[in-house]
Amino acid sequence: MLTVFPKLGSAFTVIMQVRQNGAMSQSANQDRLTFWANEAANLHWHKSPTKTLDWSAAPFAKWFDDGKINASFNCLDRHVNAGLGDRIALYFEGEPGDTATYTYRELTAAVKRAANALVALGIGEGDRVAIYMPHIAEAIIAMQAVARIGAIHSVVFGGFSAESLRSRIQDAGAKLVITADGGFRKGKATALKPAVDEALADNHCPTVEHVLVVRRTSQPVDTHPRDVEWADAMAAAEAEHVAHGFDAENPLFILYTSGTTGKPKGILHTTGGYLAQVASSHRTVFDLKPESDVYWCTADVGWITGHSYVAYGPLANGASQVIYEGTPDTPDHGRWWQIIEKYRVSILYTAPTAIRSFMKLGRAIPDGYDLTSLRVLGSVGEPINPEAHNWYGSVIGGERAPIVDTWWQTETGAIMISPLPFITKTKAGSAQTPMPGISIAILDEAGNEVGREQAGLLVITEPWPSMLRGIWGDPVRFRDTYWSQFDGKYFAGDGAKYDKDGDIWLLGRVDDVMNVSGHRLSTAEIESALVSHRWVAEAAVVGAADETTGQAVVAFVILRQDEIHDAGADHEISKILRDHVAHEIGPIAKPRQIMVVSELPKTRSGKIMRRLLRDVAESRPIGDVTTLADSSVMGAIGEKLAGGATD
Ligand code: WTA
Repeated sequence: MLTVFPKLGSAFTVIMQVRQNGAMSQSANQDRLTFWANEAANLHWHKSPTKTLDWSAAPFAKWFDDGKINASFNCLDRHVNAGLGDRIALYFEGEPGDTATYTYRELTAAVKRAANALVALGIGEGDRVAIYMPHIAEAIIAMQAVARIGAIHSVVFGGFSAESLRSRIQDAGAKLVITADGGFRKGKATALKPAVDEALADNHCPTVEHVLVVRRTSQPVDTHPRDVEWADAMAAAEAEHVAHGFDAENPLFILYTSGTTGKPKGILHTTGGYLAQVASSHRTVFDLKPESDVYWCTADVGWITGHSYVAYGPLANGASQVIYEGTPDTPDHGRWWQIIEKYRVSILYTAPTAIRSFMKLGRAIPDGYDLTSLRVLGSVGEPINPEAHNWYGSVIGGERAPIVDTWWQTETGAIMISPLPFITKTKAGSAQTPMPGISIAILDEAGNEVGREQAGLLVITEPWPSMLRGIWGDPVRFRDTYWSQFDGKYFAGDGAKYDKDGDIWLLGRVDDVMNVSGHRLSTAEIESALVSHRWVAEAAVVGAADETTGQAVVAFVILRQDEIHDAGADHEISKILRDHVAHEIGPIAKPRQIMVVSELPKTRSGKIMRRLLRDVAESRPIGDVTTLADSSVMGAIGEKLAGGATD
């Protein structure tokens, strides 16, 4: 069985055996490092590392520390130099139906020019560049160009509001913002540049010197002296750019993600270890054959999946990939399947929430397209329920294509738990096995390993190359959030269990992080957005189970009686508050429902009992209320709701 991977060498074989035998022994630990050293050796190093892991300053890891590397060279020039310049790197499909293809030679040329354009704007090693773009080829070109010159990108999802963009620009101290006039979504041109202008207004972001603007939609935009047209900057830039090697531990990017407190965390990733693990996992998890596969990951570059498995992994492996700008329903619900048919996509990587929405629409739509090119299907972002798994496998995969359910996080940088296609016998709903070189444990609160079929907390027991190196500007929060629960071990924030065969099942977050359509949202962040409205005295947010999106945001608010004399009925208040959240954070954070209540259920120490609110939000009988400071509160909420005072 292991001989299917001869090219991966003996360390892989050892790891596979370890994986199949369960626990990892002392010698396997050495093999783990050898495995990663071999994976790193698949990359081009300007100077090869002699060291693998330095964990002496745990939890601050260094991987391949004395090596020198350039991420962009690895994703581009290396393939051109190897004679693969004519291979397609990107098939771009715009929502209105416009297309563009880039060979590796063309993409390399574009990134070289963009790198020179950035240098001309004064960007250099270590500078932070915010990227706020639609899902278009220029977003990838921008990321690669930033990486190429040793600067640090911070991509902010285009669906986030001006407020969110502003706080991310400020936290990172970005010197440049790369954006577009807008993008196409749901059949319309949407605007991005006005949000950048709003974020930077009134000198809120004094570190920003320039805004580089890609013209995507030709809609009119306000211009400022700091603005530079992307096309002009590219035309003025030199064509040749020589990529230098940077320290392996040079920061590659910051990506903000929601945590348990109101303020998003700037997750920091560095270069060598990240690229090594992302390239390695992309190859093994998808059984990649770069010479013949057409790969399509539907994630936007604004999320970690769009970083690791769009902007870096596939390019590092010399793969051909599709990127699609728009939504699955434009111009009709067959759009994704039409794209798969058109490009003969062989590997599809998407989220369960998308699968569930297609399921609802019925199989007649995908059945109308030729999907026989698909040979591997991936799932990411949330647990995939067995119904969705089965539908994905049979209707989309025609019972031929195995499904890999991949568990990982912004923090882990790369896939950590997943079956391997054609090797692992897959099981609907389970992510199953740690990846080669990854050590996972499931612990109880006291730090003891739980037995089979018992729920516990998911922990990563050994450092891994693509692990986050910290939270930007906040080493204390880094230690407290991930490393303090179980001394020296990484606490992921997810619940998990082993089944009777020892396969891992993910059970969702155990903290106050919600997962809506595979996107991470923090209850605290939405609560603080709500209370920033003058009508709201107090707010509590819960993630309620939702058939399509996995979880949905449900908010309970107490209004300030002195402020609401100008407010309308509850349902009007609710609409205004929902829009307020969209304005503060972004439309993805908009509560599905806001319930106006007169009190919130709290314990005697003042902690809000979300468990009870979740019961209400999911229309279940209300659970045990004995620990409430005032046990009549839930009765009052129930009565109010029975009176129809919901959204
Ligand atoms: C959840 C996305 C179950 C999990 C790559 C994790 C999953 C959070 C899976 C990270 C999966 C991701 N099965 N749950 N296959 N993949 N999750 O940072 O709760 O956006 O902690 O990274 O998504 O979300 P993030």
